[in-house]
Amino acid sequence: MVIAVTGKGGTGKTLIAGLLVRLLAKKYRVLAVDADPDANLGEALGVESYKTLGEIREIFQHSRDDMISINKESWLEGKIYGEVIYEAEDFDLLVMGRPEGEGCYCFANNLLRAVLRKLMRHYDVIIVDCEAGLEHISRRTIDGADIILIVTDASRKGLMTAKRIRELAEELNLRARIYLIANRVEGSAVQAIEEFAKIEGFSLLDIIPPDEEVTKADIAGVPVPLSSEVAKKVEKLAEVLVCEANS
Ligand SMILES: Nc1ncnc2c1ncn2[C@@H]1O[C@H](COP(=O)(O)OP(=O)(O)O)[C@@H](O)[C@H]1O
Ligand SMILES: [Mg+2]
Repeated sequence: MVIAVTGKGGTGKTLIAGLLVRLLAKKYRVLAVDADPDANLGEALGVESYKTLGEIREIFQHSRDDMISINKESWLEGKIYGEVIYEAEDFDLLVMGRPEGEGCYCFANNLLRAVLRKLMRHYDVIIVDCEAGLEHISRRTIDGADIILIVTDASRKGLMTAKRIRELAEELNLRARIYLIANRVEGSAVQAIEEFAKIEGFSLLDIIPPDEEVTKADIAGVPVPLSSEVAKKVEKLAEVLVCEANS
């Protein structure tokens, strides 16, 4: 099951993706993918150093002509398994890193796609922390999202981004189920979000209020405790997603 978490910047995608990874990792083989060039999923997961797929792609791009007698796919595979995949205690992390530089990366990207496709078979759940779009999914670096979670706050911009992402998913003909999650929303904004979801035909999965524990963890630079209210909310919605995926 591939779950892509997307939405406007600053709405809580990384928070929610990180919690999903940690919670689902209790039961499943989970791969966390940081697909935001401004990568900080590692931080949310308490992982510090890693090499990115982007770095390996650059090395490959600039040395592939010298790799005459080397199987290029095997080379890439070795690098990704050996240097990019970070193995934490109960989940693995893959950081996509920055987008490619100038020039044609089609060859490199095609190989990468093949390697990633193979890699993904080792996991039950893949959680992708995206930027405010579906970059890696639209370019098929990551194949076939089953679920797209669009995170929004109560701002107009957040809601418009949610609509735009859904349109994009429809244009791409993705067979994914799309859900809206409102985060950091309380008071009168709750009703406004519910109305928006109803009018626009979004399945509203949950409304998560601001959580002091998230702010504290943020300041301390540590992952959000799984005992926090927000983690409990995410745990419930993870159960719903797993149930629906199995139905
Ligand atoms: N429910 C919440 N309560 C309090 N702070 C939150 C909540 N959700 C997110 N935040 C904070 O908002 C900021 C942006 O969240 P983040 O997950 O990094 O967003 P994104 O990945 O969408 O850019 C972070 O500092 C995060 O700790
Ligand atoms: Mg983020």
